[in-house]
Amino acid sequence: MEKIVAVGADHAGFPLKEDLKAYLKDQGYEVLDLGTDSHQSVDYPDFAARVAAAVASGKVPWGMLVCGTGIGMAITANKVPGVRAACCADPFSARMARAHNDANVLTMGGRVVGPGLAREILKAWLESRFEGGRHAQRTAKIQALEDRLGGGTKRKRSAPGGPGPARGKGRDG
Ligand code: RB5
Repeated sequence: MEKIVAVGADHAGFPLKEDLKAYLKDQGYEVLDLGTDSHQSVDYPDFAARVAAAVASGKVPWGMLVCGTGIGMAITANKVPGVRAACCADPFSARMARAHNDANVLTMGGRVVGPGLAREILKAWLESRFEGGRHAQRTAKIQALEDRLGGGTKRKRSAPGGPGPARGKGRDG
């Protein structure tokens, strides 16, 4: 498998992305940086979509995304057919995400994990291998579901609003 990782982040994930880029290069990986490239507030789905598209198209085998929590990146990336994104905050989950779930995109929270732990998580994910067997049977079911739904459900979404401000960018961007 080619040693190339597409990386992306929003403003909240930008500093961690920069740190992890340096780590990836040190480890002999080629890095395809799809932004963002500053602390200026941006919308995470734009960057998740870029990285997910690069993975889904086969341009790169792996993707890594960082936002504040890693959650928005995972939700968005998983909308792209062929992407299996896992949001991880510990190395064990990262290893399992690869070994059992064949995750081709790793997401992390720049406001959740520090750079040292993030490197351990990334290392665990990169160095693990999909175990196949019964796990392949399960990922095939994910694929079958994706094929059956063919680009989205008509499921009702949560109403905007709810607790907290629904409009504008809050204190944390
Ligand atoms: C931006 O403030 C924040 O919402 C974003 O980085 C991310 O945590 C979303 O999931």
